[in-house]
Formats: sequence, C-alpha cells, structure tokens
Amino acid sequence: MIEERPLFIPEQNIVLEHNGDIDPEVLEDYSKIEGFTALNHVLTEMTPPEVIDQVSRSGLRGRGGAGYPTGLKWQTVAKAPGTPKYIICNGDEGDPGAFMDRNVMEAYPFKVLEGMTIAAYAIGASQGFLYVRAEYPLAVQRLKNAIRQMEKHNLLGKNIAGTPFSFDVDVRLGAGAFVCGEETALIASIEGRRGNPRPRPPYPAERGLFGCPTLINNVETFANIAPLLRKGAEWFASIGTEKSKGTKVFALSGRIARAGLIEVPMGTTLREIVFDIGGGIPDGKAFKAVQTGGPSGGCIPSDYLDMPVDYESLLKLGSFMGSGGMIVMDETSCMVDVARYFMEFCMSESCGKCVPCRVGTAQMYQLLTKIVNGDATLNDLALLESLCDLVRNTSLCGLGQGAPNPVLSTLRYFRDEYIAHIVDKRCPAGVCPVHKREHQEVNA
Ligand SMILES: Cc1cc2nc3c(=O)[nH]c(=O)nc-3n(C[C@H](O)[C@H](O)[C@H](O)COP(=O)(O)O)c2cc1C
Repeated sequence: MIEERPLFIPEQNIVLEHNGDIDPEVLEDYSKIEGFTALNHVLTEMTPPEVIDQVSRSGLRGRGGAGYPTGLKWQTVAKAPGTPKYIICNGDEGDPGAFMDRNVMEAYPFKVLEGMTIAAYAIGASQGFLYVRAEYPLAVQRLKNAIRQMEKHNLLGKNIAGTPFSFDVDVRLGAGAFVCGEETALIASIEGRRGNPRPRPPYPAERGLFGCPTLINNVETFANIAPLLRKGAEWFASIGTEKSKGTKVFALSGRIARAGLIEVPMGTTLREIVFDIGGGIPDGKAFKAVQTGGPSGGCIPSDYLDMPVDYESLLKLGSFMGSGGMIVMDETSCMVDVARYFMEFCMSESCGKCVPCRVGTAQMYQLLTKIVNGDATLNDLALLESLCDLVRNTSLCGLGQGAPNPVLSTLRYFRDEYIAHIVDKRCPAGVCPVHKREHQEVNA
C-alpha cells in the first residue's frame, strides 16, 4: 500500500541553499553559486534606501529570538544621528540544543559576510564585528579565512568592487556566557567590559557600540539577505505565513529518529517537522512534547502537533521561536525535571546584575528541586508560581524575563505531573529522585 503522507515533506533551503555542494573555504566556489551577485548588484545599481525598502517589503524578521522586523531595524539605524555606525553579527548561540548558527557560520561564511556587507552599505557603516563563541573554533577559522579572501578580492576593505563604499569586518570571540548573546551585554563584551546587559532604551540602534548607532542581527538573519536581494522581496514574502515570512532553520534534537538541521517554510506544522522530517520517536515510544525557544521557551504537548510553526502561534502557546532549537521529548521525559534543567541553566548563566534574576532563578531552582525530590508542598507550588510572575516582570533583560517560561508552560500543559510529585510523591515518568525513593520504600 502506498503511504499517503510522504516520508519527507519538501524542505525549502534559502539559508542552507546548495547544502554541501561547495567548499566553504574557497571563495570561487561560493561565486559559482551566485555568491556576491547580490552584493555587486546592490553596490552598483541600488541606493541604500532601496535596499532597506526591499528588506522591509520581504517581511524578514530577526532570527535571533524575538522576531523584530529586520527592515525596520535597518531603517532606524540608517536614520539615527551620529557617526560612525557599526554592524554586529550575533554568533553567540548559547541555547541548549541549538546548533543552527554554528552550522551556518561553518558552512556559509561568505554568505554571512555578504549579508553583513550589504547591511553595512544600507545603513552607512564602515566597520563590522562578528561575535562568535570561542567554543566554535571551526566557525571562527572559516570566517577569518573568508574575511581574508574577500579582502584579497576587493569584496571587503577600501572601495569595494571599485565603488566609493568601504567596509571592514573583525571577529571577536565570546567566552561562552549565555548572557553575552543579549545585545547590550554583547556590546559591552566587544568594548572590553564585563558582559552585563543594561536597561533599554536606549536601544543599540540609537546608542550601541562605543555609544554609536549599531545594527545587531543574528547569523541566520544576515544569511537570508543575499538570496532575498537576488530573488526579490516579493519572492521572499511569498514563502511562509501572513506575519512570518521566509523559512526557519531548526536544530532537531532529543528523542527523535533523525536529529539534525532542517530548514522549512514558516508555517510548517510541528507534526510535519517531528514525524515527516524527523522520522518520529524512536523505539516505539510515544511523543510527549517539543521544547522550542531554549531557556526562554516552552514545551508544546501533542494536542498542538498540527499547529503551524511561526512567531505568533508559538507565543500563543506560551512558547517562543527563539533561535531555532527544538528538543523532542517522549513518554520517558519528566516535565518537572525538564523545567528544573532549564532553570538550573538560567540560574548558572544569570550574570547576577539584577536581583530578580540572580536570586529569583536560584529560589525557583530550589523549589523545583524540592518537587523532584518529593519534599514539596502545594504551598511551594504557589510560591513557585508567584516567583515566576515576579521574575518575569521585574528582571533587567531577556534572560530573567524568559527564565520562568519553561516552568509556566509545563505547568500549563502538565500540571498533573507537578501534582503527582507533590501530592502522590510519585514521578509518572520514573526519572526523578522521588521515584527512586518510592521504590526503595516499596522494596523495604
Ligand atoms: C539571554 C539572551 C541571549 C541571547 N542570545 C542570542 C544569541 O545567541 N544569538 C542571537 O542572535 N540573539 C541572541 N539574543 C537576542 C539578541 O539580544 C538580539 O535580539 C538579536 O541578536 C537581534 O538579532 P535579530 O534581530 O536578527 O534577531 C539573546 C537574547 C537574550 C536575552
């Protein structure tokens, strides 16, 4: 019998186009697949406002987390008074389960740099920085190699391609602190200061690196720019959903048959991603949830497998697009344990500058530990919920503001598991310390 559903739904590659076809260390290979045609066209045929107009009309939104409209951000920096202007590519990627930007930087260094150079022309910047975590040595090596080769071919540096436009790019290494992915902390880190966030406004678009207007975009955002300008805003806007255009690269991991990187049109359903592309759950186990959005995200249960994945739908479900990590869980995952894992991550990665995040994440982690140990009461659960509210609303940056999300979303969809740990002193998935205790007591 012929299966009605195809094994693989067609992925659509914009960022990962020509996947594996070229040597990422050879500029001529990139040129053969239309590399730099967008840059040459932009520099010789388009004005900066025309470039910004194309990016705005495409509907491209930032791929680093919040989905801010890219064209609007470019326009704000272009219009901001003050010189010089800077460009930063955010390649910090610290979410557990995320490896999209790493792959894009390793496999498409020229494409990321082409996007940055086009952006620099559009907003009037002459210096850019690529901020990459030091744990990505291959990405760093390939980006540095690409910069050298582009300089040799007059695609970076003075009077690019014989035009009046000049632009230089340097690589800066992050030391692997999650908070350094937050834009104001990242800027402080490039300036040689401790990577702590600061309140916004002012936003980096107005006062960023060294107090100057700064455009900061994610790796994947920049990697979309050359294809978008080659094929046009209308083409890009024809892909995806009404408010989320183009494709998204996801890193599929966890309890899934085919883990790895995928790129799908926005609006593809979770079911298509997990079952058609990812091959479903191995070992005959049942799907339980998919975690999106990293430590600021949430766990989406099976009831919503047919939901189209885009910025709005994920928010409605109490999760978050984030940078594109997707961790699949099966019936052997305990959702309280998952929430505790992400809270431990946020607690360890909190920079400590603001009290709600520094103290609040530690308090929430302690309460979650009490729950998994079987030592908590319903009062502890009420306290956990009120702390979620407080930390979310009073933290200085997105790390603290998002830290309660894994708890809130697991409480929303898997409250019965919390109750089982607290009231019945039982872990339904059989993974928490309370489960071992229960078994010792039965065997005693
Ligand atoms: C704690 C924290 C970590 C972040 N980490 C990253 C990151 O690793 N990469 C990234 O692009 N954006 C990260 N962001 C979002 C950035 O602050 C910023 O919004 C983004 O780089 C803007 O680029 P975009 O508009 O292209 O998405 C992080 C935000 C927070 C609050």
